[in-house]
Amino acid sequence: MATQVLVVCLGNICRSPAAQGVLEHLIEQNGLDIEVNSAGTAAYHIGKAPDSRSISCLAEIGIDISNQRARQVNSSDFELFDWILAMDAENLKNLKSLAPKNCRAKVVLFGRANPDCDLGEVADPYYGDQQGFVDMREHLLLLSQQFLTHFI
Ligand code: 4NP
Repeated sequence: MATQVLVVCLGNICRSPAAQGVLEHLIEQNGLDIEVNSAGTAAYHIGKAPDSRSISCLAEIGIDISNQRARQVNSSDFELFDWILAMDAENLKNLKSLAPKNCRAKVVLFGRANPDCDLGEVADPYYGDQQGFVDMREHLLLLSQQFLTHFI
């Protein structure tokens, strides 16, 4: 069965849909048996498409994330997923407080999922400008490559 990975940010409209798109792209390129989904810790944007700045930023590198729709993390995610990857420390803290004891998922910071390197937190670009989204995309490309070295 494919390894199941959930990427999580706050709103599920900027960082985690972009992370899902980047990971799926690299997974396909490398022929890996991994499935990716994304979610937010907050409920503000449930059902919405990704932020247009995330969509355009990913489209620039040939990745289409426009069909994704935001959802909130729920308790069954901790049993369904092998990995739950948080974009920042605040989301990691909230995920850990929701996680049942001894759950299946490894709940970690995305930037520290590979113990060989610490790539830090993915900054929230929502209140910034387009350059923040470009920086986010480049950061996510690095994080995703490092994470997938677990499986290559
Ligand atoms: P995300 O960005 O967590 O990367 O999806 C945000 C999206 C929306 C809000 C904050 C961050 N918000 O406050 O509505």
